[in-house]
Amino acid sequence: MKIVVLAGGRSTERNVSLTSGHKITNALQTKGHDVAFVDLFLGNDLHDVASIDDLYSSTPVEKDYDISDEVLTDDAINALRTDGSTQLFGPNVLEICKTADIVFLALHGGDGENGKVQAVLDLFGIPYTGSDTLAAGITMSKKVSKEILLYNQIPTARFVAAYRDQPMPEVPFDYPVVVKPSNGGSSVGTHIVHNEAELQPAVEDALRFDREALIEEFIKGREFSLGVINGQPLPAIEIVVNDGWYDFEHKFVTGNTTQFVTPPNDLPDDVHEAMKQMALDAMQALGLTNYARIDFFWSPENGLHVIEGNTLPGMTPLSLIPQEAEVLGISYPDLCEMIVQGKLDLLKAK
Ligand SMILES: Nc1ncnc2c1ncn2[C@@H]1O[C@H](COP(=O)(O)OP(=O)(O)O)[C@@H](O)[C@H]1O
Ligand SMILES: [Mg+2]
Repeated sequence: MKIVVLAGGRSTERNVSLTSGHKITNALQTKGHDVAFVDLFLGNDLHDVASIDDLYSSTPVEKDYDISDEVLTDDAINALRTDGSTQLFGPNVLEICKTADIVFLALHGGDGENGKVQAVLDLFGIPYTGSDTLAAGITMSKKVSKEILLYNQIPTARFVAAYRDQPMPEVPFDYPVVVKPSNGGSSVGTHIVHNEAELQPAVEDALRFDREALIEEFIKGREFSLGVINGQPLPAIEIVVNDGWYDFEHKFVTGNTTQFVTPPNDLPDDVHEAMKQMALDAMQALGLTNYARIDFFWSPENGLHVIEGNTLPGMTPLSLIPQEAEVLGISYPDLCEMIVQGKLDLLKAK
């Protein structure tokens, strides 16, 4: 099969995506596919190849990117292109994608994960992995997705929304609260607020990243994440942060003490099963298909709460879904191939 792995892009998670993309490329090549790695933003000027077909190299590419970087700024990303242009699709990206049987979306965050790239590929009739345009758009908005979860009786933290240039809303629940941009990721602009005095600066900071911010009830409990692939829930993974909470530093800066435990220790079986069912229910409510990851909090007192859904979760071998799959004996290359095959099956059934 001819597969284009699309990675990079312009989001703050560009370097994580490039890492995922190279690993996926290698994995699919070991499964015998013809795979072309393409950086969505930088594209390929095709100067070095006689034809696009030559990009489907049989030689695995291996490269490491610094994912412990500061948040990548727009200027830093723009500087990567030499011709001064800033549009998301680099030279020949669409032309290359058109030659693929399917495009593997190794993009994370921003326009790769919010449905916009999916919409472009839809308009050109190019199949791609992961959820469709609408589900990706819904899930990118924490506000819209939480409203849908609540409507479907799927427990998630209560919230009120705050907007630029509008009065601060009344907070109808007790402190602490969590303040976050509605469209965001990597915990950027997210704050745990302990009292009313801290609220205004936290909301102002969150609103630097989005016109809409959420003020959420703080859910006490242990943090888990659970991936689903082709309708099959994987074992949950617990995120154990020993000092503080799962903020940007704990996600990306190396040398921190965060541990990922799968299957989790001391998680009652009935709770684990309920989490799997809730992940399936949340995916269905949000319209997510093929694969996705749902994040949870759980405690005996408060039960289960969905924190958010992730449309294109990390796919480096150290990311959560690959670790969960490993527990079931699904190797990383098998996982990548299952995603491709699962999406092709879905498209055929349509
Ligand atoms: N309502 C909440 N109660 C407690 N902790 C929360 C809550 N919402 C978010 N968090 C913490 O903040 C982190 C980031 O929030 P999340 O909504 O997952 O946004 P992101 O898209 O940035 O990952 C979570 O992993 C969790 O540790
Ligand atoms: Mg999250």
